[in-house]
Amino acid sequence: MLIKKIKIGGLELKNNLFLSPMAGITNSAFRSLCLEGGAGLAASEMVSADSLKYSSKKSFEMLKVSPGEHPIAVQIFGTCPETMADAAAHAEAAGADIIDINASCPVKKILRSGCGAMLMKNPFLVGNIITAIKKRVKNPVTVKFRVGFTEKENLSVLLARVAEESGADAITVHGRPVSRMHNGEVNLDFLNKAALSVKVPLIGNGGIVSAEKAREMFEAGCAGVSIGRAAVGNPRIFSEIISELNGETAENAGDCDKVKLLARFLILNSELYGEVYGVIRARKLVGYWLKGIRGGAELRKRFMAAKNLNEAKSLLLQYIEKGKSL
Ligand SMILES: Cc1cc2nc3c(=O)[nH]c(=O)nc-3n(C[C@H](O)[C@H](O)[C@H](O)COP(=O)(O)O)c2cc1C
Repeated sequence: MLIKKIKIGGLELKNNLFLSPMAGITNSAFRSLCLEGGAGLAASEMVSADSLKYSSKKSFEMLKVSPGEHPIAVQIFGTCPETMADAAAHAEAAGADIIDINASCPVKKILRSGCGAMLMKNPFLVGNIITAIKKRVKNPVTVKFRVGFTEKENLSVLLARVAEESGADAITVHGRPVSRMHNGEVNLDFLNKAALSVKVPLIGNGGIVSAEKAREMFEAGCAGVSIGRAAVGNPRIFSEIISELNGETAENAGDCDKVKLLARFLILNSELYGEVYGVIRARKLVGYWLKGIRGGAELRKRFMAAKNLNEAKSLLLQYIEKGKSL
């Protein structure tokens, strides 16, 4: 059985298929839909430890966890062990079940500040950050990094060992190098070597769009698999993959189901940000959401012109009604 319960530190999760952290995407509204859609764990957007130190209202808002969104890993980024430990304590107080450390972000601005994937260049610092956080929080602590910086380099074995020795309760490895950002092949061989080098669960990530891709990652030795972009637009991908890997007949979401979920997402988003800004914020996601669906390009164009929740909802309802009569 590939899909099973998994223990991260003292926390038992109902399955080993997780939602990846995605800035600008995995907000409270989206996380709720993915947990409903079967994810064993949801992750927040990354939150800056420095911004929390300087009491940024926006960053504290990002830590908020609503009652329907457990289990959740809140991800923080930064370089200073003490500041990261303070941030972890804030996240735990706000309801995080797991504190996740970002050592994987390839975005230039983040790298320039020494954060994200730049931490991979300094395994001692990674270890110090984990140790400092472990001293401050009770809940499990995890870390996410990449296989390496370039195609040929595998830093993940060393980093996984350092993370485990420093007390990490699980490790996520994105199987693409930093140089590839979020595109290209995932190196399953490197993931396999990293998974074999530690006793704590190693969660593989990158390019999971189907049960087959998830199977490959489990077969490479990963104890769990984390899904990013394929969940955007299809938050039910988790239960679809679970059913398929369990040999059950999976009923995959059709175009209208996806549009219905988008309508629900908009409602949840509007509860968070208001009926105008909630729709504006959703504009960034509709490209992912409507990709590949019949009439998706036209619907997206019209969605971009919607000024508030009512306008957006009626567009989506028209699409669903039309879909029923086809
Ligand atoms: C828009 C976007 C935002 C992301 N933000 C984060 C983030 O905040 N923290 C993080 O660890 N990874 C982040 N990632 C990387 C994803 O967690 C994941 O590692 C990556 O998308 C590969 O998985 P996928 O191929 O399943 O999408 C982001 C990716 C995307 C596309």
